[in-house]
Amino acid sequence: MSTPIAFVIHPVLRYAPSSCPADLMLEEACLLANAIGLEVVHSEVIALAKLRAGSYFGKGVTERLGDLAEDFTHDIDAPVVIINTSLSPVQQRNLETQIKAKVIDRTQLILEIFGARAHTHAGRLQVELAALSFQRSRLVRSWTHLERQRGGGGFLGGPGERQIELDRRMLLDQVKQIKHELNDVERTRHLQRRNRLRSNTSTIALVGYTNAGKSTLFNILTGANVLSKDMLFATLDPTMRGMELPSGREIVLADTVGFISDLPTELIEAFKSTLEEVIQADIILHVHDVSSPLLEEEASDVRSVLEDIGLSLDIQKERIINVYNKADIAAVTPDIDMFGSESQPQMITSDMQPSDGTVISALSGFGLDILKQVIDDKLGEHDHLQSYSVPPQHADASAWLYQHANVLHSEHDKDGNHQITVKLSAADEARFKSSWPNLSSNDKEALLLFEPDTLPLVGPEHE
Ligand code: GTP
Repeated sequence: MSTPIAFVIHPVLRYAPSSCPADLMLEEACLLANAIGLEVVHSEVIALAKLRAGSYFGKGVTERLGDLAEDFTHDIDAPVVIINTSLSPVQQRNLETQIKAKVIDRTQLILEIFGARAHTHAGRLQVELAALSFQRSRLVRSWTHLERQRGGGGFLGGPGERQIELDRRMLLDQVKQIKHELNDVERTRHLQRRNRLRSNTSTIALVGYTNAGKSTLFNILTGANVLSKDMLFATLDPTMRGMELPSGREIVLADTVGFISDLPTELIEAFKSTLEEVIQADIILHVHDVSSPLLEEEASDVRSVLEDIGLSLDIQKERIINVYNKADIAAVTPDIDMFGSESQPQMITSDMQPSDGTVISALSGFGLDILKQVIDDKLGEHDHLQSYSVPPQHADASAWLYQHANVLHSEHDKDGNHQITVKLSAADEARFKSSWPNLSSNDKEALLLFEPDTLPLVGPEHE
C-alpha cells in the first residue's frame, strides 16, 4: 500500500504578522503531518492580503492548489491538504469542493495525532472526548449558520436542521457517557494522589513542548522505559515512577503529554485529568529543547497552556525549575538571557548554569547530578534543621530518621547515644514527635553546626 500524501499550507495574514517565522511554523506543521504517517509532497507559505469568509483563500490560490492536487492524483489517492490554521466548517467544505481533495485544519491534525497515540483506556477516552466536543462545536456552528441564512430564530426547522439536532443530541449523550467513564479514572488518580500525600511523597511533573526530551529525561532519571522517539507526542498518558534524590528523599516523577502552540481547547479540556498531575505537583520541571530555533516561543506556549489549566504565572514562578535540555547539540545564543553577557553563540559547558534552572543533556547524562540536587534543594527549602540525641534503646528512631530525613551529621557519643543532625519537613517533624515524644530536638545546636548565620545574635556586645 502506498503512503498517503499531503500538502501542507501555512497561511500568513499580511495585516496580522506572527512573531514566529513562517518557515519554521511550516516546518513544524510538516512534522505534525509526518507524525500521522503522511508523506508531505508539497509545502508552502501563502501570504494573504485578506481572508475570505467563504473559502479562506482567494480563487487564484484554490485553483492553483486544485491543479497541483490533480497532478499528484494519478495512480494514488488525492493528497490530504493541511491548512495550518483554524478553519470554519464552511471554509473547510468550500475548500474541499474547490481543491477536490480532503482538507483538514491544525486542530483536526492535532486531534488525529492524539487519536493515533492514545494507548491506554484513559488516553483513548480523553481523545474521544476532545474529538466529540470538536464535532459538537462544528455542528452548532454550522447550525447557527443555517439559521442565519434562513433568518429564523428558533430550533424548529426543516429536515436538515432536525437531523443536525438529532446528531447534536447523540453527540451530547456520547460526551456524557465518556465524561462518566473519565470520572472513574479521575477518582482512581485522586486516590493515588491522596496516598502519596499521606506518605509525604512529593510529585515532580515534567512539562514541555513536544519533542523537548521529557520522556528521555524521565527514563534516565527513573530507569524506566517510556517510549521516547523523535516523534511528536510520543507520550500521551501520564506515567509515574518513583526515584531517589541525593538526600535519600523518595519522590514520584510524572511524565505528561507534550504541549504545542494552538493546542485545541477541546484537547486541553479533555486532558484536564492528565494535566491534574501537573496542577498538583510540588515542583514542575519545564523541559526546553535548547537546540530549537523557537526556544522562546515554545517556552511561552507552554507557559500559556499552564495558565489555561489554572497555574498563574506567579505559581509557575514558585514551582517551576527550567531544565535546558539537549546541551550536547546546542549552540546557545546569549539573547535568550540565560548565560549572562557572552557576545557570541557558544556551546554550553558545565560552568554556564543559568540562574533560573539547569542545563542538561538527557541523552548524554550531562548535568543530571546538578539537576537532582536542585530538585532536592527546592523540596528542602522549607525543611527544618534538628539535632536529636537518640539513646541506644531507640535505634528504631534513628532508622526512621535515615528513611525520612536528610541526615547531615551523625556520630555516637561515649554513652552510646546517637547524635544525629537532620533536615526534615514540618510534617515529618510532627510525625517523629508523636512517635518518640521523649526525644526532643535541639534545633539551636543544629543551627550552630550547619547554619550559624541564621541564629539571632546574643551576648553583651549585641544587647
Ligand atoms: P513528546 O512525547 O512529543 O512530548 O516528546 P518528549 O518531550 O517526551 O521527547 P522525547 O524524550 O521523546 O525526545 C524527543 C527526541 O529528542 C528523541 O529523538 C530523543 O532521543 C531526543 N533527545 C532527548 N533528549 C536529548 C538530548 O539531551 N540530546 C539530544 N541530542 N537529543 C535528545
